[in-house]
Amino acid sequence: MTKIAQIIVAAGKGLRAGGQIPKQYQDLMGKPVLWHTLRQMLSSERISETIIVIAKGDTRIHAIIDDFPAHKISTTLGGATRTDSVRAGLEALSDNAPDYVLIHDAARPFISHLLIENLTELLKTTDAVVPVLPVTDALKHFDDDTIGTDINRANVRRVRTPQGFDYKKILNAMRELPQNASFSDDIAVALHAGMEIKHCSGDENNIKLTYPEDFIKARQKLMQDTYMAVGNGFDVHQVTKGEHLWICGIKIPCGFSLLGHSDADIGLHAVTDAILGAICFGDIGDHFPPSDPQWKGAASDKFLKFALDQATARGGELMHVDVTIICEKPKVKPYREEMRARVADILSLPLTRVSVKATTTEKLGFTGRHEGLAAQATASVRMPIG
Ligand code: CTP
Ligand code: MG
Repeated sequence: MTKIAQIIVAAGKGLRAGGQIPKQYQDLMGKPVLWHTLRQMLSSERISETIIVIAKGDTRIHAIIDDFPAHKISTTLGGATRTDSVRAGLEALSDNAPDYVLIHDAARPFISHLLIENLTELLKTTDAVVPVLPVTDALKHFDDDTIGTDINRANVRRVRTPQGFDYKKILNAMRELPQNASFSDDIAVALHAGMEIKHCSGDENNIKLTYPEDFIKARQKLMQDTYMAVGNGFDVHQVTKGEHLWICGIKIPCGFSLLGHSDADIGLHAVTDAILGAICFGDIGDHFPPSDPQWKGAASDKFLKFALDQATARGGELMHVDVTIICEKPKVKPYREEMRARVADILSLPLTRVSVKATTTEKLGFTGRHEGLAAQATASVRMPIG
């Protein structure tokens, strides 16, 4: 079977973008830029292996890779120039050489599945492929600061990554480059080596984050590609003899208890199910069955953290949580702020996005008769479309 690998170059310093950390690790709607790039680049089943070229000491990469456990991803150290980093990525693949390789900038998180498919399809017919875009603005020569003659737009194209190559040919071409060779991109190296090159239509959306203002554009783009998923959760536990109970992670000494396999925290269970509902990932009983002895007496913040991690792994961002406790007693109000703070802490949300409310059922029904306590919750999660 034809083997296609990919290299994502992420060893740059991102000087033009500014900021405290290199641009590929800067935040884009709750995740580093590189996380978005990687998620997109892993969307094609044709790619069997991924090398990320990083700079020395870039430990942030581990958390990013950990979010994609189903894929074969490794890292190697890059060099002083982009070409050096590409070379390092190609060498890292040499022990188990692929037939083809795609090379992509970490700073282009909007790479589409369709473009990857088009490039890999075209690659079967040639040595190298590149996506190109027309120029629509007028182009002028400039002599120092003085405007000069027109450049014919018909003769120029804008060129982006990913670019695809026959692996052995591009590796040899890179190995034969003189020490201080300077090429603007990898397709230029392929041209220099006499490789056959074909092009396909590029994607306007696939911008490179270069300057600080590109991050504003990128956030707007990501917002357009998301929807707000709202999940609801409901939980009931029976009243039993005891000294205290747990609601929303707070221990309440009230002279009775709630019956349950875990700590029977109705509040945290309802919020957990609400988040699982928003990401369409079953319910708390699926993931933590009461029949499993390991969850006996378990503190329910574990369940909630699990649901949050699952949302994050799907590119989701938890925006807001609202929970209502339904009971005649204990009185919830004295504990409400503590409960909000605890839920906010478990979910790493600001307090302003966590609401805890309480109501009685006017002595009606099982909660009214004090046979059991209930909680219901909603969770709003911003999810990527598709
Ligand atoms: N790159 C790399 N190794 C280098 C230089 C660049 O792997 N020595 C990578 C960058 O991380 C980026 C891609 O090449 O994903 C495109 O380069 P560019 O946009 O120029 O990024 P930086 O070099 O990091 O930014 P700047 O030029 O503003 O410092
Ligand atoms: Mg650069």
